[in-house]
Amino acid sequence: MASNTGPEPCVMVIFGASGDLTHRKLIPSLYDLDVKGLLPERMTVIGVSRTPMTDQQFREKMLPSVQKFSTHFEQPRWAAFASRLNYFAMDGAKLDAFPALVERINSLARQQGIMKSSGGPNILFYLSVSPELYEPIVGNVGAAGLVAEGKRWCSIDPHETPWQRIIVEKPFGRDVASAVSLNRALGRVFEEEAIFRIDHYLGKELVQNILVMRFANSIFEPIWNRMYVDHVQVTAAETVGVGSRAANFYDTAGALRDMVQSHLLQVLAMVAIEPPSSYEGAAIMREKIRLFTCARPVPPADIPRWGALGRYGADDAAGEPAYESEKGVDPSRRTETYAAMRVEFDNWRWSGVPFYLRSGKKMAVKLTEVVVMFRSPPTNLFASLDPAAAQRPPNRLIINIAPREGISLRVEGKVPGSGLKIDSAKLDLDYHERFGGEVTEAYGPLILDAIRGDRTLFKHRDEVESGWRICQPFLDSPDLRRSIESYPPGSWGPRTGNELLRRDGRAWHEPQAGEVR
Ligand code: BG6
Repeated sequence: MASNTGPEPCVMVIFGASGDLTHRKLIPSLYDLDVKGLLPERMTVIGVSRTPMTDQQFREKMLPSVQKFSTHFEQPRWAAFASRLNYFAMDGAKLDAFPALVERINSLARQQGIMKSSGGPNILFYLSVSPELYEPIVGNVGAAGLVAEGKRWCSIDPHETPWQRIIVEKPFGRDVASAVSLNRALGRVFEEEAIFRIDHYLGKELVQNILVMRFANSIFEPIWNRMYVDHVQVTAAETVGVGSRAANFYDTAGALRDMVQSHLLQVLAMVAIEPPSSYEGAAIMREKIRLFTCARPVPPADIPRWGALGRYGADDAAGEPAYESEKGVDPSRRTETYAAMRVEFDNWRWSGVPFYLRSGKKMAVKLTEVVVMFRSPPTNLFASLDPAAAQRPPNRLIINIAPREGISLRVEGKVPGSGLKIDSAKLDLDYHERFGGEVTEAYGPLILDAIRGDRTLFKHRDEVESGWRICQPFLDSPDLRRSIESYPPGSWGPRTGNELLRRDGRAWHEPQAGEVR
């Protein structure tokens, strides 16, 4: 969160109010923000979906989710928060339903005293519906006259003219062409500055901390390049399977689309971008775009050696099915629940340094981390005294994003005693031990940023499109898809995933039992 300015009153309209994300993340995050006094005092939420419901029924439906997923549930506070929640039943894909929605927005804004003198309230739209509804809803929001943002800049007092912004959930398209089309649809209605393409990984503390670590310290930047870094690994491993999500989304997406193209590329960008000119949305986005556009194109014939796909097998002990037997899965699609790929950037800083990305379901542990592996010393001074010294591992920096946020640096040291024996030791910074605080759900701070108009932690259209361009050859490769392998649940993925690094004389970092970094 870059901004420290107070958020303005607004109406938040959530399309997809009966969906899973609204229950599990959006409403509990809003509740938590409210409890901490961070929401604008005059802010009202309208949940929109097709199921008929009264305001009261909507509030009752949200209550168990807030009890379960919020960090501070208390009944009296819930009552105050629930009065902010309203519901409006409509099909967002049908334009004729919109005049009544406009009326509802305006009447709630009047009740709350948040109409601006030049007409209408500030409105934050949130698109949390099936992706095929994104373009129709955005088109209808525009056709219904709900967006006047473009006129704001030519008004005498822009602060008296309401803003309209939109948060767009992932998946942001399913390939380059659909992402371009969605960006065009959004651009016909909203200014780019009013579009907040959300990636909840950018709301995670340690992801933001990568930039702080790199640019608030002077010791890392001089060695953060091809001269000193051998390679970088970005891992997002989960222990959960796909379960009921297979039928409604996952089987037509897979791990590359679901995790790699979105979250992992964003984490990678934080590690690899050049220093931005300021800690502001536009400056950071510019650097991410510059980085992505210099990703080295991989010839189609090489893709099977630059990527690996897998899907989890059955867990007989737990009585859980293999991915292919999950309800709603079409095995002929060969959808992956594990994906790994190698990316290289043809720029002065990173030329020749591979970035390996991997993500999988039903893996050995829940782990999200970045591993920066440094080069070995150019010559080994100690090899004649301690033959094992020749095999010592190089320095390694691990940034643990989950489950235990922190940073560790492996260094080599002399074991006390006579003679010369070398062993590894870790310098470890545990984020919570040092800074305290609590783990916050990433959605809340990001929604607050959108209300403030701060795009630092969101994605620009060019960034999204160039991210797809990096992944598209891997999605399109029939050879890569044919090579998909099963892996045992609770393992580190398929053999081909390990091969990807072994071929380059490297190995994935796998924490030992009980080790967090
Ligand atoms: C979501 C993906 O975006 O991120 C899910 O759609 C995944 O498949 C989730 O489980 C992981 O998020 P986190 O914050 O638990 O790492």
